Amino acid sequence: MTGPEKSAALLTRKGVKPIAALTAYDYPTARLLDESGVDLLLVGDSLGMVVLGFPDTTHVTLAHMLHHTAAVARAKTKALVVADLPIHSYDTPEQALANARLLVEAGAEAVKLEGGTRQAEKVRAITSAGIPVCGHLGMLPQRVLEEGGYHKKGKTPEQSAALLEGALALIEAGVFAIVLESVVPLTAASLTAAISVPTIGIGCGNGNCDGEVAVVTDLIGSYPWFVPPFARPEGDVASIVRHASLAYTQRVHST
Ligand code: KIV
Repeated sequence: MTGPEKSAALLTRKGVKPIAALTAYDYPTARLLDESGVDLLLVGDSLGMVVLGFPDTTHVTLAHMLHHTAAVARAKTKALVVADLPIHSYDTPEQALANARLLVEAGAEAVKLEGGTRQAEKVRAITSAGIPVCGHLGMLPQRVLEEGGYHKKGKTPEQSAALLEGALALIEAGVFAIVLESVVPLTAASLTAAISVPTIGIGCGNGNCDGEVAVVTDLIGSYPWFVPPFARPEGDVASIVRHASLAYTQRVHST
């Protein structure tokens, strides 16, 4: 299936079957996750922190995203590969489309960008060229410096109304789904009920969205130095790596 076909299929999952999405940043992880039947692989700019060691996503460049998108795409997954447009790679509609095309040339089947109403024109420029776009509302990590930290969204009626307005603008511009990040559960649930495209939640509580996305390193426990409070780890890769490395080092030291 092509990217547009896969994203159209995910759109029809709303109210039918929840969407399971995970981030992936490299070839073997993408293959392993795909073999488990995950629906969507996001080459997230979270790779800035969990792969490249930066303090936040504002250090991620288009070159970083192209490199990791190409690695994930080589896994030729059944899951839809979505790549993040990093900060300042979509400041104008023309720039957004040009950089979305570069991500597609690297192997992305869809792109994601952060923000609502003010991004609608950029989303439209990309979708009009036949490239599927996933929106991202709620807490926007690329704005962490302006906002002075990571804060929950949708706490007040004004914030909830702004989220709905943003979602409707994105839908009008052609998104096939919207990631909702750190939106309080009641607002996430009512926004999900109010809109026609699937919401994919992270940090929005359980069952309030049409699917979930998790950062793979939180899921498998391979980045133990910071784990968000909402993460639900299913593995402890850090312990396996430490154990294997210790056994190896002790063996070599004692021969
Ligand atoms: O970059 C990322 O991993 C993301 C998820 C948190 C949704 O955008």
